[in-house]
Amino acid sequence: MSKQEELKRAAAEAAYEHVRDGEYLGVGTGSTVNHFIDVLAERKPEIPGCVSSSKATTERLRAAGFDVVDLNSSGALGVYIDGADEANAHLELIKGGGGALTREKIIAGAARTFVCMVDDSKRVDLLGRFPLPVEVIEMARSSVARALVKLGGEPELRTGFISDNGHPILDVHNLEIMNPIELEDAINALPGVVTVGLFARRPADVLIVGAKGGVDVIT
Ligand code: 5RP
Repeated sequence: MSKQEELKRAAAEAAYEHVRDGEYLGVGTGSTVNHFIDVLAERKPEIPGCVSSSKATTERLRAAGFDVVDLNSSGALGVYIDGADEANAHLELIKGGGGALTREKIIAGAARTFVCMVDDSKRVDLLGRFPLPVEVIEMARSSVARALVKLGGEPELRTGFISDNGHPILDVHNLEIMNPIELEDAINALPGVVTVGLFARRPADVLIVGAKGGVDVIT
């Protein structure tokens, strides 16, 4: 395992502390989450099942023996555990590198506690070095892209990719996101935008950072 994967695994092990027996668990998407699912499979918590943010995660959870239910049938969700592409000091995030941002945002919004796990390469002072994913309705692809240019970004269509919801994604380069909430609202207001991968209105509640010196927990 590479050093970075070891840090992700350490963050995933620390995130396990937030799993509550008897409660449905929200599970995100990505390589850090895959480590977390490995931890779940090893420790076998007494949970009734999971709510998943992607087809890929659903497959892994089922293969590990966990029931996966729809958010509509889980009832109120306690804890949601996911990774991120960037995290700032306010626990605001860029997510969607794996393309699962829409379901991730829905589950994060429904959960009482959002626990985010990252390795320390994802911590930034200013969000935006990682291209900001924006999921769009296909017919609005060009109009949204032009509006994103006006907002100061350089949108690029993610080639060969369609989300689990059937939509394309624009990755917006060269943004320096000084005010994440303002930008999230501005992009959300563009007709045809399904979801922007800025998680500022609903940031993480707990950020678990795998670093060389150990795991940092920021709240
Ligand atoms: C998927 C995501 C992931 O959480 C994000 O891309 C981080 O992935 P990884 O853990 O593989 O670095 O938002 O849509």
